Amino acid sequence: VPATKAPRFDFRPAVPDVSMFPRRAWLRSVRQAIGSATDADLGYGDPRGVETLRRALADYLGRVRGVVADPARTVVTSGYTQSEGLVCRALAAAGARRIALEDPSDPEQRETAARAGLEVVPVGVDEGGIRVDELERTRADAVVVGPAHQFPTGAVMAGERRSELLAWLRSSDAIAIEDDYDAEYRYDRAPVGALQGLEPGRVVYAGSASKTLAPALRLGWLVLPAELVDAVGHEKHLADRGTARIEQYAFADFLARGELDRHLRRMRVRYRARRDALVDALHEAMPEVEVEGIAAGLHVTARLTDTDDERAIVDEAARRGIALESLDDYRTAPGSGSPTLLVGYGQSADSAIRPGIARLAEAIEAARGRA
Ligand SMILES: Cc1ncc(COP(=O)(O)O)c(C=O)c1O
Repeated sequence: VPATKAPRFDFRPAVPDVSMFPRRAWLRSVRQAIGSATDADLGYGDPRGVETLRRALADYLGRVRGVVADPARTVVTSGYTQSEGLVCRALAAAGARRIALEDPSDPEQRETAARAGLEVVPVGVDEGGIRVDELERTRADAVVVGPAHQFPTGAVMAGERRSELLAWLRSSDAIAIEDDYDAEYRYDRAPVGALQGLEPGRVVYAGSASKTLAPALRLGWLVLPAELVDAVGHEKHLADRGTARIEQYAFADFLARGELDRHLRRMRVRYRARRDALVDALHEAMPEVEVEGIAAGLHVTARLTDTDDERAIVDEAARRGIALESLDDYRTAPGSGSPTLLVGYGQSADSAIRPGIARLAEAIEAARGRA
């Protein structure tokens, strides 16, 4: 899809519905932040973030995600992407050499780890999350996982798999980075708690406002094992001397007022309805396609038939004004698994779901006809 032309039907998987950004509540918090900031608050301050936000985050994460959080071990960052880079650099500086990443996962996560000087080893993912049996063969010093809702497969790490992973962390003296980017969006039940809550000394918790509020905020956070706090704080200082502080004060106020909870309650209802509509439309228009994964997040994975060419389908869809992605965009070895589309509903207006999916079905038929 040309960057200059917005797709008519936007089913990209990673984008939230920013049209619902709580502008008024955020503005109120920004006003409050600027109005009450002292002269000292306008200096550089602690690169790990402003104290009021670290306290508010520790409260929120303990309450909502079961994170064992403490403001002294909490670092505010400019998003998950920066968080991963900071932790990888801190680990590399302490002697780590190798890091395992889920396959499939965002290739930029692999690149971020590699740029920090770590050797990246891909490890497979099944319905239960990362394959710990494969992980055991890597001799990695660290691993990145998405236990609550792995991106892009949508797998949830089940209890037994969590125990195996924690046993591996202990026996290998390794660290896990937990990417908890969209865990608040679970529609069928309360989300599973964070892995970090089970082993706070070996799991780095990483969260982000990009899915819950908007990517434009560039706000993320880490809750670290005590031994990593100074090293990550130093990396953060070297990276940018700290995330924009006025936004941090604003976010602290926003959290303290319960605005994030309120926004999430509203969005869960909306996304759940949209997901249901999308799943119904997919079943109706393409009964041969299997919708996989739990009722969570901002996209569904739709498994095509084995003879389908997922790239040809994505290209054909783009020609017809439909933007979406396929699992191959995230695999280290394209073509190595069942052809699967990633169909996002964050950006798609409710009224566009049915016609968009009908059009996608036409694109699939056309791609099949050409094969
Ligand atoms: C798997 C995953 N983790 C984390 C993020 C959030 O990254 P950031 O906080 O840098 O915007 C994203 C955003 O698309 C993502 O897809």
